[in-house]
Amino acid sequence: MSFRLEPATIEDVPTLVTIFDEAFAQDAIFHHIFKDVPKEVRWERDLKWYSAAFENSESNGARFTKVVDTSNGEVVGFSKFDVPHIVTAAQSESGPRNRGSIPEGTNVPLYDDFFGKVDRGLRKWLDPEKDTYLHILAVRPKYHRLGLGSRLIRAGLENADAARSKVYIIASPVGLPLYLRHGWKKLDEIVVDMNKYGGSGVVAEELLLRAVEPEC
Ligand SMILES: CC(C)(COP(=O)(O)OP(=O)(O)OC[C@H]1O[C@@H](n2cnc3c(N)ncnc32)[C@H](O)[C@@H]1OP(=O)(O)O)[C@@H](O)C(=O)NCCC(=O)NCCS
Repeated sequence: MSFRLEPATIEDVPTLVTIFDEAFAQDAIFHHIFKDVPKEVRWERDLKWYSAAFENSESNGARFTKVVDTSNGEVVGFSKFDVPHIVTAAQSESGPRNRGSIPEGTNVPLYDDFFGKVDRGLRKWLDPEKDTYLHILAVRPKYHRLGLGSRLIRAGLENADAARSKVYIIASPVGLPLYLRHGWKKLDEIVVDMNKYGGSGVVAEELLLRAVEPEC
């Protein structure tokens, strides 16, 4: 099988939403936040969110890259890196991430707990005018473990290295070993007690930093 990487465009948005949905279906936090939201409502919300991210990509630094299966042209994975960009007063007020609307059925206490901790972690550590943020990495499950996540990571890191930019990520438990292999180090933790929100156990997502290599 062979694959190529290329910039994603706004025409890819429905496919990216589907890939995200498939890739994160087993993610405990996302599952519990949205499990009572009808699929079509979530779909519409995500379409709007991704479309806006593309439309505003000049001002929000969003860079989407897709992986295409060259045998059939199918998009099978993508990344969203937020590269350093000027932060406007409005962006600063709305917080690190504009997450779009909260649809009816959302587990709001869990949403607030998780994204509140994410936002505080990002505000504490990341300077969006200087640093890069790997916001989303998703590969369709049947294409896992073929090195596609690593190719998307390497492409984004090359750009960050060229700009001498630190790169942050909030790692899911599934993504963590992969990121540690690509040079990220643990910096902070986002811990959610799922027992309070209809789930079980405690989920820890790691806020990771990949520092800039010192110049020789
Ligand atoms: C994380 C992810 C993007 C990796 O994509 P990938 O194309 O499989 O990545 P690579 O082939 O380059 O690397 C494989 C490594 O990723 C991890 N991984 C990939 N698929 C996995 C799976 N189904 N279960 C557990 N770990 C998995 C493992 O560490 C694996 O290394 P190993 O095979 O030596 O155990 C992909 O698993 C995914 O989309 N997961 C769901 C969404 C997610 O958690 N994204 C990360 C958000 S921070």
